[in-house]
Amino acid sequence: MKGILICGGTGSRLRPLTDITNKSLLPVYDKPLIHYPLSVLLDAGITEIIVVTGTEHINQIQEYLIKNDLYHCNFTFKVQEKPGGIAQALGLAVDECSDGESICAILGDNLYFDTTADTIKAFKSGGHVFLKEVEDPERFGVAELEGATVVSVEEKPTDPKSNLALTGLYLFDSRCFDVIANLKPSARGELEITDMVNWYLQQKELTATVLQDEWIDAGTFESLHKAAVLVREKNI
Ligand code: G1P
Repeated sequence: MKGILICGGTGSRLRPLTDITNKSLLPVYDKPLIHYPLSVLLDAGITEIIVVTGTEHINQIQEYLIKNDLYHCNFTFKVQEKPGGIAQALGLAVDECSDGESICAILGDNLYFDTTADTIKAFKSGGHVFLKEVEDPERFGVAELEGATVVSVEEKPTDPKSNLALTGLYLFDSRCFDVIANLKPSARGELEITDMVNWYLQQKELTATVLQDEWIDAGTFESLHKAAVLVREKNI
């Protein structure tokens, strides 16, 4: 299984900090933000990792990950020249992934406090998403469950069908690259990851885990601060 770490976006909500470095290098207590999603991949035994970045301060990311070989993995870097969506970023990893190989994609600003390694290691085929109950589901992709079955997914709905956010960790089998090739841009002009998830749902091959512990999308000052407090408290 290959890991794809998606550090796209311009980090505009974190200016002026992101004027001087990439969002994924901002400190979360004692480590750069990127350390935490990367640890999710490493904990699952994934060591072949494709890092997709935007164009902002990308040399600094490469330097952090490669210098001193802190993580003992094999990194490949891909640049997403313009923000075109998470699914487009994922598609840039196609040449690095061999036929039949599954992928584990994670967003570079997402922090997980649950143990996800067993689920990642056990993944065989289809698609798998990690959901978290939130107070403001309209800010995220939203999944609706009937029992343990996902029955709908929607990207940032104005009228969410549940309070379960689709978090930024996704497992897909190798068909995902064909799915991306056939996606159409959404109203915001991006290839949406939620549309990929929806494809697996339509095939009846989508499964989900509901996270029990905290999950943070650290894209704002408030959530970045909360992340630092939790990392310190929980010592992850
Ligand atoms: C993206 C996804 C959304 C998901 C979120 C998790 O949103 O499109 O489905 O819930 O990441 O962090 P974005 O952060 O690009 O607005």
